[in-house]
Amino acid sequence: MVFFSKKQKANQVIIKTAEDIEAMRPACRLAAQTLEEAAKLVKPGVDTLSIDEFVHAYTLDHGAVPAPLNYRGYPKSCCISVNEVVCHGIPSRTKILRDGDIVNIDITSILNGFHGDVSATFYVGTPSAKAVDLVETTRRCLELGIAQVRPGAHLGDIGAEIQAFAEGRGFSVVRDFVGHGIGRGFHEPPTVEHYGTRNTKLRLEEGMVFTIEPMINAGGFLLRVLSDGWTAVTLDDKWSAQFEHTIVVTKDGCEVLTKFSAPLANSQTPEGFSF
Ligand code: MF3
Ligand code: CO
Ligand code: CO
Repeated sequence: MVFFSKKQKANQVIIKTAEDIEAMRPACRLAAQTLEEAAKLVKPGVDTLSIDEFVHAYTLDHGAVPAPLNYRGYPKSCCISVNEVVCHGIPSRTKILRDGDIVNIDITSILNGFHGDVSATFYVGTPSAKAVDLVETTRRCLELGIAQVRPGAHLGDIGAEIQAFAEGRGFSVVRDFVGHGIGRGFHEPPTVEHYGTRNTKLRLEEGMVFTIEPMINAGGFLLRVLSDGWTAVTLDDKWSAQFEHTIVVTKDGCEVLTKFSAPLANSQTPEGFSF
């Protein structure tokens, strides 16, 4: 999701220097590491506030601040979105993970003045074939988006690639939330749409840092936000999955700054699955 401050125009992309990129690495590494640890907590019977409490403590223990906490009034330290929740699910003691659920955990750390933003969708216990299809399609959407990123490519190439794959598999791409530039700000320009047209929108340059974070729905792409002001759910109550990385455009391609150091627990592609 993207919000711009009043003095920031939507087109003022902040190009990062080599020093800025080095300074962003610890925040991105910590966000990824926190997600790797949080992943191990995913299992039937666990409430989502317990996972948030872990994320909060782990972040502070590593000298960082959880960016979501108090961000525009957001009350918790990460977002945990189950099944039909598209994004911005608020961790809660009464939201208990059940066998067969899918759950996205979205973590943003601030360290050394910079942000790192990463998320993944996890399987709670044993997933249905439909859940696997949605989650694996979404995982591939992020990979396909990342594969477009190099100097001279356009932001529209990312969206076009993701949209073609998701819709080709009978799913829809969320329009109301998008990826974003990131750095000293949580949400900087540009917006990174996960749908669109090749050779349109911003031309990518070395030193741009942004997230790609496709939200893919089993049904339609329309959403509504619950009365808590945050929780975005699908209008048709069908399930939604999401994966996110923070990416830097390099001289000849890109680098994923929030790369994991080991395969994520509870988010492996099931044995024998293929498209
Ligand atoms: N991490 C989310 C993103 O990917 C933003 C969450 S904003 C919050 O952009 F306030 F809900 F935390
Ligand atoms: Co995020
Ligand atoms: Co993000």
